[in-house]
Amino acid sequence: MKKSIPLVDLKAQYASIEKEVDEAVKRVLRSGQYILGSEVEALEQEVAEFCGCKYGVGVASGTDALILALKAIGIGPGDEVITSPLTFVASASSIVHCGAKPVFVDIDPETFNLNTDLIERAITEKTRAIIPVHLYGQPADMDKILELARKYRLFVVEDVAQAIGAKYKGKAVGQFGHAGCISFFPSKNLGAFGDGGLVVTNDPEISDRIKMLRAHGSKPRYYYHMIGYNSRLDTIQAAILRAKLPYLNAWAGARQRLSALYNELLREINYVKTPYIAPDCSHVFHQYTIRVLGEKRDALRNYLRERGIETQVYYPLPLHLQPCFGFLGYEEGDFPESEKASREVLSLPMFPELTEEQQKCVAGEITRFFEMSEGESGEAH
Ligand SMILES: Cc1ncc(COP(=O)(O)O)c(C=O)c1O
Repeated sequence: MKKSIPLVDLKAQYASIEKEVDEAVKRVLRSGQYILGSEVEALEQEVAEFCGCKYGVGVASGTDALILALKAIGIGPGDEVITSPLTFVASASSIVHCGAKPVFVDIDPETFNLNTDLIERAITEKTRAIIPVHLYGQPADMDKILELARKYRLFVVEDVAQAIGAKYKGKAVGQFGHAGCISFFPSKNLGAFGDGGLVVTNDPEISDRIKMLRAHGSKPRYYYHMIGYNSRLDTIQAAILRAKLPYLNAWAGARQRLSALYNELLREINYVKTPYIAPDCSHVFHQYTIRVLGEKRDALRNYLRERGIETQVYYPLPLHLQPCFGFLGYEEGDFPESEKASREVLSLPMFPELTEEQQKCVAGEITRFFEMSEGESGEAH
């Protein structure tokens, strides 16, 4: 039988906690409270605490978490917001949704996060905020970002979509900036069974404003202070997430053990660079992302696909080269490290229930691919 190793196996996770999840859904169905209510409030408090924050506001998605957080701090037309070009589109489209302009800064090739040595030269008198993205589950270099934010009086909105529970100098990400934006997209480390998101913050005013924005700008109901949205976290999703949250640290531990085994299994392959973990950071490996050198990434990916092993490229085209951001006027060559990464990165199957046997199979096929291609082309370089 042909083997099949998915990138992420959501059914395996459901099977491991089926009873708790089903109970949570039933609790909501029986309660008659289907919009907001005590389940959402409890989750907001639990996630805020998990992230070391005072407040949490559940919203409809990670994308909306970013948009509403930016709106809440007053980002609007004429403003510039700095972020990375190597990230999911929402890190930057959220800025445009507020009427502001994304300004990209290249990544550090080791961590794939914003290169903090390059941020200062991108700051202008219009810059109002920085969105560091904790890509793949690894914290960005927050000390330097916060130092620049203080120096230039900028807001910091952390994109925590891929990194809930990751720690920087022992503290969970999301608590460093003015707001931290979490995604509960099903494949995320804490995934709902549908869309969902949440903003954590220590600022009561930001929390209040996001609560208004997610409910049409109202406070109390039917009194509108601003033009808002319908962007509430679904109550059933909140109950499911409450059932899953107690497992999140154990799942992160499993991801870290799996990544250590991948590192070990892939160590001898000259063409593969395994993930770097920055000092003082705990990486929660939302993705286990290698670099494939020698322009062999796509061939390797095809080879693995033919053998039933699913991989993904996060991201194949950096945001500054995407047609939707063409109006910003960037060109190829503007962010060479992001462009290089987009040609080299490959994310391997990674989920807490992945077995050692499956990992050995993935690593074995990668090894075989390079043995074959080295046979054809000689030395690694
Ligand atoms: C870095 C990053 N930011 C933002 C988002 C948007 O989250 P959502 O899909 O929940 O809207 C995602 C994930 O999808 C993401 O990976």
